Amino acid sequence: MKRFIALGDSVAVFALVVAGAGLLAACSDQKTATPGEAKAPESAESATIPAESPVNPAAWPEARSKGLIDAATEAKITELMAAMSLEEKVGQLIQGDLSTIRPEDLRDVPVGSILAGGSSAPLGYPDRAPAEAWVETAKAFRAVAMESRDGHTAIPLLFGIDAVHGHGNVVGAVVFPHNVGLGAANDPDLVKRISEVTAIEVAATGINWAFAPTLAVPQDDRWGRTYEGYSESPDLVASYAAAAVEGLQGKAGEIRIQDGHVAGSAKHFLGDGGTEGGIDQGDTKVSEADLARIHGAGYPPAIDAGVMTVMASYNSWYGVKMHGNRSVLTDILKGRMGFDGFVVGDWNGHGQIPGCVPTNCPHAFNAGLDMAMAPDSWRELYANTLAQVKDGTIPLARVEDAVRRILRVKFHLGLFDPARPFEGRTDLVGSAAHRAVAREATAKSLVLLKNEGGALPVKAGANVLVAGAAANDMGQQTGGWTLSWQGDGNSRADFPNGQTILEGLQQTMAAGGGSATFSADGSFTDKPDVAIVVFGEQPYAEMRGDLRTLEFEPGDKASLAILKKLKAAGVPVVSVFLSGRPMWVNPELNASDAFVAAWLPGSEGGGVADVLIGDKDGKARTDFTGKLSYSWPKSADQFALNVGQEGYDPLFAFGYGLKAGEASSLPMLSEEPGIDASDFNRTLFFARGAFVKPYSASYGEGIAHAHIDSANMQEGAVKLEWGGAPATFAITGPEMEMSRETNADMSLAVTYRVDAAPEGEVSIAMPTTLGDTGLDAKPLFSANIGEWRTVKLSLSCFARANPGMQQVASPLVITASGAFGISISDARIVTDPEGTVCPDGSAVD
Ligand code: BGC
Ligand code: BGC
Repeated sequence: MKRFIALGDSVAVFALVVAGAGLLAACSDQKTATPGEAKAPESAESATIPAESPVNPAAWPEARSKGLIDAATEAKITELMAAMSLEEKVGQLIQGDLSTIRPEDLRDVPVGSILAGGSSAPLGYPDRAPAEAWVETAKAFRAVAMESRDGHTAIPLLFGIDAVHGHGNVVGAVVFPHNVGLGAANDPDLVKRISEVTAIEVAATGINWAFAPTLAVPQDDRWGRTYEGYSESPDLVASYAAAAVEGLQGKAGEIRIQDGHVAGSAKHFLGDGGTEGGIDQGDTKVSEADLARIHGAGYPPAIDAGVMTVMASYNSWYGVKMHGNRSVLTDILKGRMGFDGFVVGDWNGHGQIPGCVPTNCPHAFNAGLDMAMAPDSWRELYANTLAQVKDGTIPLARVEDAVRRILRVKFHLGLFDPARPFEGRTDLVGSAAHRAVAREATAKSLVLLKNEGGALPVKAGANVLVAGAAANDMGQQTGGWTLSWQGDGNSRADFPNGQTILEGLQQTMAAGGGSATFSADGSFTDKPDVAIVVFGEQPYAEMRGDLRTLEFEPGDKASLAILKKLKAAGVPVVSVFLSGRPMWVNPELNASDAFVAAWLPGSEGGGVADVLIGDKDGKARTDFTGKLSYSWPKSADQFALNVGQEGYDPLFAFGYGLKAGEASSLPMLSEEPGIDASDFNRTLFFARGAFVKPYSASYGEGIAHAHIDSANMQEGAVKLEWGGAPATFAITGPEMEMSRETNADMSLAVTYRVDAAPEGEVSIAMPTTLGDTGLDAKPLFSANIGEWRTVKLSLSCFARANPGMQQVASPLVITASGAFGISISDARIVTDPEGTVCPDGSAVD
């Protein structure tokens, strides 16, 4: 039991918690559980309730919600509550998601709120939709909530959405740099203006609540949500919190907020950025003092600024899930920090408390949760919660407190007033004025890490080669939480008002008398004066973005190959790196004359050109002002590198960033990553002509194999030929735990060319330790003969064929019973679920 002996003065505090930690159910991914599928406890008594984390309120900073309580409004709330039925009160505590709730459902389940999760669309749309569709959806739900019918108290709905970098789920909205870039801008006033613009665009679509700002203080950059945090420094996060809240909600202290503002949600309370190993939804094992000082830093200023809601976090603190932690949610947040708004849960987050499921969790409400985010579980959660209030499992006083807090926010937002001057003003969504703010933010977020030989700024009249597919990829420059949950599947057409980095460079070069020519692979006919190479991470969000080391492109240095090719041709190379976090890029830095950390700059790519391209003499027009808000690692194992640490030894320290006129003199950097990414590699199997460690191949007897050229690389593929006898080809390596990947809709992408159609049977399998059933691939491999193509095979198809995705024995096994020829140039796990299929043509789950 005494596992946490390194805790110093907090040991006593946690002694009790440890007992509870043991009860924590293996943190299974309950997000995909559908109502009814998970077994609900028979009664609340039988639920296993975790031990509370005892806390010492005096160790925490004090705060006071500004302007949320005034006597006149409280009296109105009392009056309204007197008219409400118990059903209506309980309904206020429940929030359903647009993916499953319809306006007419409000007639039997009177929920207090709806949300649009990351990939949830407005009514009548399967996904990406324009502003008008959102306005219509808001109106349709309001119409039912406010209709007069017998026994119904009309109460307006709160409608929440992840407007975390602009109103990013709406086609045409302006998309700002993600918070990692705003941290580099070190400009609270800019953050305030960005939040004001966001509020206006949200209000214009009829939505009244943004799930922002994220006040996480990420400490381990392997965490896939690092980019949602402004900085690893609690001070920087604290300095932004009030600005972000005031921008969204307007100046604190008014009885009713001004039009064009919406409610904010400071998230995720508490310790989301401190999980062990940077694992999303994991366990934060820090002392109470550090929980308050580091992870809590942004909350007192946000509360003082009147933030109306706080979102509970998925993470645990020493094994106790935050959604069930009464000490933290009630004693600290509502007590010590004087928070008078309400606590909303995260996506079925209550269901992760031991003994709870998404459809049943009295414990969360008793711990201090006021509104449960119950995207698909709202109906049953409502029924169960109502029964638990009736039988006293949840005290009525607790319900009344929660309802009061929620109604307080509704009054404060002016939702009971008929006038909604901003609703329907879709002309404001993505307006020129809004985009100008984003362009400014992009320019201010760029951090110049290296500049040698006067590579930057580029002269206005130069002939520039723009290389790297990312230069013209809206999805990559906007990142996760953009039009889809993970930011995948986005195309140029989804951003009618935006500009790619390439487009910005082309416009700027043309205006200055120079030129910008695009070549994704960096090839050219006329030697350019300089190459600007844009490359970086593919979009990701929660879970899918978690890494095991900080090495960029381990095992497949495709971007580096472009840099080296240009360098070898004597072309000065300017790298523009798109990423959600600092990464180990020493080889790429060595191969660049200048290197710009551009983070996830958003929809206004022109902001990059503003800074990179100077005047005709090569003098900066807009100088670099960005400074690192996260420390940059020297080796790929400096995961948890944070300013102020003992023995702090970064490559570029917190606060580093050159001016355009400043030359750096970086020595050649070590290209030893310091940690072997292949030890952790479970996603990349074959790339650039070779099996990637720790994977190799096993060729069954009778399969001839040879290296051949792929579509775009010499010796880039392996050619397999079955002579006629049944035989099996397999990629072999360590066992892989793929259940999370399966739940997250990932797939196995294979780039291949069929050289000879199968004469007999052919199957593809992803065997586990529990089964090796193959899926018929004959139709797949009998088509498109002689053509290079990529197919994305959904992991869910394999999971259906064999149980045990927790122990996958091989990522790819191909068995043919007769003659067959296939060449493979790439095999890897990918996140983008767009266009995935099953090998046998059956439907993807
Ligand atoms: C995320 C939150 C988000 C919510 C609604 C959760 O999975 O953790 O940050 O606000 O979903 O989309
Ligand atoms: C996200 C939602 C998203 C959903 C998809 C959640 O974790 O927060 O925004 O739509 O997962 O399953």
